Amino acid sequence: MKAKKDSIVSLFQPKSVAVVGASSQPGKIGFSITRNIIQGGFKGKIYPINPKGGAILGVDCYPSISDVKDEIDVATICVPAKLAFDAVKECADKGVKHVQIITSGFSEVGEVELEHKIVEYANSKGTRVLGPNIFGVYSASGNYNSTFSATDILRGNVAILTQSGALGIAMIGKTAVENMGLSAIVSLGNKADIDEADCLDFVMRDQETKVILMYIEGVKDGERFIEAVREATKLKPIVVLKSGRSKRGAMAAASHTGSLAGSDEIFDAIARQTGLLRAESLQEAFNWCKFLAYSPRPKGKNTVIVTNGGGIGVMATDACEKYGVELYDDQLVLKEVFGPATPDFGSTKNPVDITGGAKAADYDLALTAPTRSEDMHATLALYCETATFDAENLAPMIRDTYGKHLASGKPVAYAIVGGKVVEDAVVQLRKMNVPVFPEVYEAVSCMGALYKYTNMLAERDDSVEDAQMDIATINKIIDGALADGRTFLLANEGQAVMKASGVMIPGAGIGKSIDECVRLAEQIGYPVVMKVVSRDILHKSDAGGVALDILNKQEVMDAYEAIMKNCRAYKEDAVIDGIEVCEMVQKGVELIIGARRDPQLGPIVMCGLGGIYVEVMKDVAFRAASINKKEARSMLSEIRSYPLLLGVRGEEQKDIDIVVDTIIKVATIIRKIPRITDIEINPVVVYEQGKGLKAVDVRIIISKS
Ligand code: ACO
Repeated sequence: MKAKKDSIVSLFQPKSVAVVGASSQPGKIGFSITRNIIQGGFKGKIYPINPKGGAILGVDCYPSISDVKDEIDVATICVPAKLAFDAVKECADKGVKHVQIITSGFSEVGEVELEHKIVEYANSKGTRVLGPNIFGVYSASGNYNSTFSATDILRGNVAILTQSGALGIAMIGKTAVENMGLSAIVSLGNKADIDEADCLDFVMRDQETKVILMYIEGVKDGERFIEAVREATKLKPIVVLKSGRSKRGAMAAASHTGSLAGSDEIFDAIARQTGLLRAESLQEAFNWCKFLAYSPRPKGKNTVIVTNGGGIGVMATDACEKYGVELYDDQLVLKEVFGPATPDFGSTKNPVDITGGAKAADYDLALTAPTRSEDMHATLALYCETATFDAENLAPMIRDTYGKHLASGKPVAYAIVGGKVVEDAVVQLRKMNVPVFPEVYEAVSCMGALYKYTNMLAERDDSVEDAQMDIATINKIIDGALADGRTFLLANEGQAVMKASGVMIPGAGIGKSIDECVRLAEQIGYPVVMKVVSRDILHKSDAGGVALDILNKQEVMDAYEAIMKNCRAYKEDAVIDGIEVCEMVQKGVELIIGARRDPQLGPIVMCGLGGIYVEVMKDVAFRAASINKKEARSMLSEIRSYPLLLGVRGEEQKDIDIVVDTIIKVATIIRKIPRITDIEINPVVVYEQGKGLKAVDVRIIISKS
């Protein structure tokens, strides 16, 4: 029995806490945590537990948790690993709601069983487990610092969920330097029980949290994670740092936390699908968090660049394309708005170039203009150090124009490039949380993240479309294959699954006589292919058992007799069950559509350029399988070969609607039929609009459970 989901609040805002392994010896983790809770201003009750008794910073110790009469919301465990089970058991027996196990030495070093045993016992009593292998929890709204990191954590609006403890502690240090206050930080460690999904449930509702930052190495329950992220990103931006991008990185992450890192491309696709903002580096993640926490959301897509130098203007233009920031292009309006602030030898085209002679007053004029224009929604302000600009005026000009943007509800990011004076201004202004960067790309990437989040909110549609299918028939096919001792389906079984799911397949049937074969061929439609069906003839072509491109009744009759004669000559005693008559699949665009149950991220659907070069071209797109037609279409349009479906060089457009339907069908199979672990249809041959497709080759892998 697990404790109720909503009780996660008491992990962050407990009313009473215990520290099991509290120590009066400074330098010990049990001391630091007790001190941080006491000195961090916690308003609830604190119970240090130590068998030796005594007092810590004036708070009396209890010899054991069972001696505490009160209810306990959170017990922090900081005794060595060998004592951890007994310590947790005592807490669980007492009915403690959460234990957070600081102790290391569990699944991260191979001690998986001990970790399972602890969680199983705790959960059986309704106690949830955070960790093990963590540094604790800080929550501003709970006035609660149960970490063994810094005593003073800067209060603010960013909540950090981190799988890595050491990186988490380092991030706390960096938040102070960057003046990026925290509303919460929680170390998830081995995620034996409580994971990101649980903690998101708290931080997404927490009034003090405006932005969430997650550091992830691997996900354990992908479906739950995706569901939680989808909910949370509707309310707040989530910036994610996911390590394990490279193969070596993935291996390092696997040994680091005892979890396997999932395929990075799949994670990347899911991040986009669920509205996560994936940062490349720690610095980028911090830049985005701060920018998202303080910037107003743009009310439209028109961005203007104001610069005193052509070079950085061009760099910023390139960066806008990279980060998806759209530049406003109405030359008449630009001229009207920026004309009074631009010298004749400057340019009112976007980038607006107020030229190297611009002084603070000119900047003020040029940067005030977009705050007053209804047509402009965001500003990128660039400055190159010049001898004509009085350096003393730089920071005040930026502060003032930043204030004007805030007052008008429009975002602005500054990039200022130059020597010491400029760098000093960057440091000074960043301390005041003004978004000023020494690099053009940093400023534009922040604006890009803000637009990505804003656009995602406007466009997202999380509805899930299910295809109708005959699940009972599919399950019967799986039962038959499993009874046969197989964990894969034969080609005809795969086709039968497709038929039961409504996926278009080539027409086929087995005839036992000339008449039956003729009837089948006429039903399917010419041209057809005929193939001998015999378990005694494995290599059909070698035996003369295959006839291609049969165009009419006479050719069916001739082929039937020829195949029979050839096969008898090839193997006199071969048992011939009949002759398979199949539709001869015509040429079209070859796609691959597949799905799999990812060990970390759950059911995934995939589509891409198919045929024999799939591995070489790697032109595929992924999504979590809970999708709708809009998402399936966007997935299809992501592949490089998409123009082939639109039709090139005067070709007709292909039947994209049917491809989208087929993606939805395959996604439904993987979600609804848990015993199917992998599906691959390759090739899926797609024809002109209205003419559908054919799922030619279908491979399906199944599992018993
Ligand atoms: N109940 C309560 N207290 C007990 C019990 C008990 N059953 N048994 C012993 N204690 C007391 C001890 O007497 C001691 O108190 P004392 O200082 O008054 O003698 C206290 O608990 C701690 O026990 P120690 O044996 O002294 O253990 P120590 O403090 O050296 O180490 C620790 C314990 C910190 C949990 C250690 O085993 C450990 O795992 N360290 C790594 C922690 C870590 O790095 N976690 C990951 C963080 S994230 C990152 O990567 C940074």
